[in-house]
Amino acid sequence: MTPAPFPAARMRRLRRTRALREMVQENGLSTADLIWPVFIRDGEGVEEPIPSLPGVNRLSLDRLLPAAEQAQALGISAICLFPYTDPALRTESCEEAWNPDNLTNRAIRALKAALPELMVMTDIALDPYNANGHDGFVVEGQIVNDETVEALVKMGLAQAAAGADILGPSDMMDGRIGALRMALEAEGYRDVAILSYAAKFASGFYGPFRDAVGASGRLVGDKATYQINPANRDEALACVSRDLAEGADMVMVKPGMPYLDICSAVKERFRRPTFAYQVSGEYAMLMAAAQNGWLDEEKVMLESLLAFKRAGCDGVLSYFAPKVAQALRG
Ligand code: PBG
Repeated sequence: MTPAPFPAARMRRLRRTRALREMVQENGLSTADLIWPVFIRDGEGVEEPIPSLPGVNRLSLDRLLPAAEQAQALGISAICLFPYTDPALRTESCEEAWNPDNLTNRAIRALKAALPELMVMTDIALDPYNANGHDGFVVEGQIVNDETVEALVKMGLAQAAAGADILGPSDMMDGRIGALRMALEAEGYRDVAILSYAAKFASGFYGPFRDAVGASGRLVGDKATYQINPANRDEALACVSRDLAEGADMVMVKPGMPYLDICSAVKERFRRPTFAYQVSGEYAMLMAAAQNGWLDEEKVMLESLLAFKRAGCDGVLSYFAPKVAQALRG
């Protein structure tokens, strides 16, 4: 409906006071929209800064628990675990990925025992365990799909057995959602949700994350044979459609801000729970500018996250989660 012509319509009438602006606000960000990605590592009493992610630390499990407790108290819905694996455990066969006692699985058990109401999400991909930094097995220089899917299923089942609430396959192999969903049903994990990294692009914005999980120096080549070409929108929608058909409960677009058009298209077309990942490079850009005094950190943090809600997302994975939650709680 077009507004009346000026001066019958003056758009500024409803911007005059804070109360009026809030009355007509169309979208809002709440703490329940947030999923907090956390990097974990072995050791005790460790809070190890990640230089390319200012303000983000790798936490040992004893430090993870109080951080998670605080996140829950702030109203954050879920925490998503990313392991920094001991270099000695990174191999080409990646068996640490489905070790029931690997770092991630130990963290899941500890979190579910201490904070049963906080949702625990995991990442399914081989990169933190792979000697060459890839999400899949590398055979003669090729990332092999079907063998990788078998490994990812083992990895997902081990996480489900440890008590994970939400599995997040981030590997972009074909057929992984269907294989995982069938295996979960067969093994009695009917209520474990899958949040598929469905529209995941081959992005330059993942750099600081690869530092954080220790994959940067190891990665041989790039991920262009499995992640989506940043130029492609139809392909992204086809991937979302396929993952939903294979049994994903929720889907994700990643990265976030440079792909808001994809977020919006996914929500409009599929009307299913849709998430965006405000990835490490997006966080690093905003933080670098804020630390230089070029941007107001709190303002751009809140504005960048609200953009996802406006685009139609139901929630966002963000390294800002605890800070945002604090800001939203006033
Ligand atoms: C790995 C994975 C990546 C991210 C989440 N899971 C990196 C990659 O695909 O190289 C990136 C998250 C971020 O940049 O914050 N499968």
